[in-house]
Amino acid sequence: MAYGLLKGKRGIITGALDENSIAWKVAEKAHEEGATFVLTNAPIAMRMGEINKLAEKTNAQIIPADATSIEELTNLFTQSQEVLGGKIDFVLHSIGMSVNIRKKIPYTESNYDYFMKGIDVSAMSFHKMLAVAKKLDAINEWGSVVALSYMAAQRTFPFYTDMADIKAMLESIARSFGYHYGLEKKVRINTVSQSPTKTTAGTGIKGFGDFFDYAQAIAPLGNASAEDCANYCVTLFSDLTKMVTMQNLFHDGGYSNTGVSDYVMKNLGVSGEE
Ligand SMILES: NC(=O)c1ccc[n+]([C@@H]2O[C@H](COP(=O)([O-])OP(=O)(O)OC[C@H]3O[C@@H](n4cnc5c(N)ncnc54)[C@H](O)[C@@H]3O)[C@@H](O)[C@H]2O)c1
Repeated sequence: MAYGLLKGKRGIITGALDENSIAWKVAEKAHEEGATFVLTNAPIAMRMGEINKLAEKTNAQIIPADATSIEELTNLFTQSQEVLGGKIDFVLHSIGMSVNIRKKIPYTESNYDYFMKGIDVSAMSFHKMLAVAKKLDAINEWGSVVALSYMAAQRTFPFYTDMADIKAMLESIARSFGYHYGLEKKVRINTVSQSPTKTTAGTGIKGFGDFFDYAQAIAPLGNASAEDCANYCVTLFSDLTKMVTMQNLFHDGGYSNTGVSDYVMKNLGVSGEE
């Protein structure tokens, strides 16, 4: 059911690689809610061609941009305003990549060139995107920017290796930039800390399948799906959440506030009953 929450709003959606991508679902929901937007991804990701299907379905234009390049981001924000006919109202940062994870390198033996690459792609890109938008004055007042994060920024999840530190930086950028952009232009910046989700980035993590089941067994509502995440992002892009900024918002079925569940206790054989 659509509510017209984004009617008349213009956006930029990064990170839709295939139909499992969280960004893909966000684009579908934003379209349903009446938004017009540009889709973007790294030029190398375009080669898969999947994004064309999404563009067709949502009447969106595609503007490739490597999110680590100020030049390409400047082109993205400039062209998006031309294509959409005005300033931007919402931006989704849905970009994550760790070479250390990809190469299955243990956290304590992290390769620092890979670590730097992970920081640049997954966290610094957020700062660059915001800096470019601010410099061009490309986002409308009360506009909303959302980046996707994971709870390893607060608590240790060993398999998440260097991405844990990188997500901590991403969330910090939302607070720091959110202050300045809010004060000067009333632009809102938040991160959504999402449940484990079966996507290319997610399933690339060693032991992801087992952890997905564990999180499902802990969270009272179960894991939040990519569709659920898309719905939440749409509310954050809408005027209904106008005063929410500089927050890290858990979207995880209650996982982050649950110590242990009855289900896990029972299955470990430690139900506590004498
Ligand atoms: N899947 C999960 O379990 C999960 C949980 C919490 C948060 N997240 C976060 O959600 C976001 C989206 O990931 P996803 O799970 O949908 O996976 P995904 O693999 O579908 O999306 C990651 C995207 O990042 C893009 N990307 C990589 N390098 C880039 C660059 N240099 N410039 C521009 N784009 C680049 C990829 O092309 C891809 O589209 C990431 O930030 C991820 O960390 C995922």
